[in-house]
Amino acid sequence: MVDPVCGSGLPACRDRHAATMIPAREAAHSAFRGSSCLAPATVKMSNSATPTVRPADPRFSSGPTRKRPGWTLHALDGALLGRSHRSKPGKAKLKEAIDRTRAILGVPTSHRIAIVPASDTGAVEMAMWSMLGARPVDIFAWESFGEEWITDATEQLKLDDCRIHLARPYGALPDLSLARRDADIVFTQNGTTSGVRIPHFDWIAAERDGITVNDATSAVFAQPIDWDKCDVVTFSWQKVLGGEGAHGMLILSPRAVERLTTFTPNRPLPKIFRMVKKGKLDEELFEGATINTPSLLATEDYLDALCWAEAVGGLPALRARADANAQVLAEWVARTAWVDFLAADPDARSNTSVCLKVVDSRVTGRDAATQADFAKSLASLLEKEGVALDAASYRSAPPGLRIWCGSTVERSDVAALTPWLDWAFDRSLATLP
Ligand SMILES: Cc1ncc(COP(=O)(O)O)c(C=O)c1O
Repeated sequence: MVDPVCGSGLPACRDRHAATMIPAREAAHSAFRGSSCLAPATVKMSNSATPTVRPADPRFSSGPTRKRPGWTLHALDGALLGRSHRSKPGKAKLKEAIDRTRAILGVPTSHRIAIVPASDTGAVEMAMWSMLGARPVDIFAWESFGEEWITDATEQLKLDDCRIHLARPYGALPDLSLARRDADIVFTQNGTTSGVRIPHFDWIAAERDGITVNDATSAVFAQPIDWDKCDVVTFSWQKVLGGEGAHGMLILSPRAVERLTTFTPNRPLPKIFRMVKKGKLDEELFEGATINTPSLLATEDYLDALCWAEAVGGLPALRARADANAQVLAEWVARTAWVDFLAADPDARSNTSVCLKVVDSRVTGRDAATQADFAKSLASLLEKEGVALDAASYRSAPPGLRIWCGSTVERSDVAALTPWLDWAFDRSLATLP
């Protein structure tokens, strides 16, 4: 049976997926039944009444993110365990992951897709180590992961003519118009730790000489990607579709492939970065052969996520789900005086990693340590109540909350969370010295 979405001879998702589907709420409750995280917290009473409705699933982590609604371990029943990833069925599973990724994301046939080691970091660094140094480089960053690529470029690769465009404070974007036409460009489409995304790709010249490297790990499957403007796109399974850690995806345009085959960097390349053999692209990498051993269990889980994505309506539905989740928070922020987005510009606000800051003067009037403790107290109360797990801002970001709104999260859960955010604020305020 030919898959109706992919239309490319892929095996049908629907049957396999239907077999693993159970109602989302049932799954969430069974996953948390007996969990100590649901024990009510003993905290000092404050003004706001305890909300009566809890999110059915309190997982709002920004990575690994929530699994798709209805996920259970049975989703992995079809995993090819105890077999070689180089066996015919092993390679077929990996190729299916590549093909379904292409189908869901609408990746042009001109672009190649590979499964690579070391998650998104592996994919970005593979590209940087293999491709940069041929021409000037412009790096744009506005939060901690973008800054990691700056560290790579300046302290490890020690690139010549590398211009750094770093936005501060967290919440702002750098001046993207400074991108040079003749330079390679490295950027992070959605800054996971600041909740700031690029509003569009207009700042990248269509007629450019350099290549662009887009770390899209918290943007893909949720935000548009202009494939004509992106020569390297990377992401990991653990992020937007709620997959497992350790595996990265690397998508290359013809221009990126040309760079790989015409430029030999003057630096050692570890085996796990090598995509070229004797001056020729290792085409097998883009057909399901991997450089080293992948997890076929994690592969099955990624396939399950892709099939779920197809079943709910593909990319438009995934984007709509993330937008609807983020909209619930936007409406709550608009009517709530104590909180605001870290992202100043509404067009640059993330619909996946929504980062929030406390703006109430009873808190902002305190010293930095007290403000940080206050934010920690919010996240810890939410966690103790079992209504939001992993909702604290990233360790190197300004204190606040970060609520994942990607498509695997249910809108009703975000809606159920907002009264708890107010509740946590009131309680934390009551404990301020
Ligand atoms: C924008 C961004 N880049 C890179 C990474 C690193 O991802 P991984 O741990 O999958 O390598 C993350 C992780 O959250 C991220 O958000």
